Amino acid sequence: MNATDYCSFAEAWEERATIRTRPRRRVEDDQRLIYPLSRQPLVLSATFQRECPHQRDFALVQSLYKFIHDVVIFETEIVNHTASAIARGRFAPPYPFACRYDAMTVVVDEDYHALVAMDFMQQTIELTGIEPVALPSEIELSRAIPAALALLPEALHQAGELICVAIAENTLTNDVAAFARDESVKDSIKGLMADHLLDEGRHSTFWTRLVRIYWQSAPDPDKRLLAQMLPTFIERYLTNDIQKAFDLALIEHLHPAPSVRQALREEAQGLAFPINRQHPLLANILRFFQGSSILDSPCARDALAAYLP
Ligand SMILES: [Fe+2]
Ligand SMILES: [Fe+2]
Repeated sequence: MNATDYCSFAEAWEERATIRTRPRRRVEDDQRLIYPLSRQPLVLSATFQRECPHQRDFALVQSLYKFIHDVVIFETEIVNHTASAIARGRFAPPYPFACRYDAMTVVVDEDYHALVAMDFMQQTIELTGIEPVALPSEIELSRAIPAALALLPEALHQAGELICVAIAENTLTNDVAAFARDESVKDSIKGLMADHLLDEGRHSTFWTRLVRIYWQSAPDPDKRLLAQMLPTFIERYLTNDIQKAFDLALIEHLHPAPSVRQALREEAQGLAFPINRQHPLLANILRFFQGSSILDSPCARDALAAYLP
């Protein structure tokens, strides 16, 4: 695909974008969970179940707050930094109008997702009376993108950022899907996730196409430099350092006894996925590399050899 073949999804956006079609959701006061147990495995650990099962809802509410806070950072600071530059024609080489218009729908969607997330945060605080205890000021991407860009000459920073954001917009999707299917979770929370997922389906295609257009006209030396930053980006992106730090901070609020807190910290240590070709998000990342045509380049296949089947 080159830039002139680009087909806008503006019609689909008018008909299906959640900001155009969804009423406000209310968090319901029922017995269901506010956050899936599978996404806060500390709660399922033997020590937690034995020593502080009464803290389950507290831990899940805090985990929801972190998730919401992460969404706000991701949408406003990461995705929209790039989407808004493209929409305003500040990306070089500039994309045609149809791409820029679609980029603006992404900006609107993402700001709306951040707004809905903030609404849910407020509603949950009102419903539960629980205030957030430990909200990190960064997400993994806040560190992974600068680390990757540091390997590139200034002239390739925008392109590097575009590829990193496109990768992230192609992985989040599965993450949210698991959430939307969980029967033990409140309908409003599942609805929030399903709404978000609907918009993100459009976004993942958008970013893949934009990278494809960029990649197909990029000079080979640029491609080589961009390919070389990918392993650093993937490694930093898929770490769970921030989640771990959050879990440790949360543990301080779960139990008064230092020995129990120590046992919980040990449980939390074992919860990370190793970063290798079995990592659950890696299949999505590789699918993006294929769809965007990055993997057609030998330099990218070399750089990513450790992750390829
Ligand atoms: Fe979003
Ligand atoms: Fe998105």
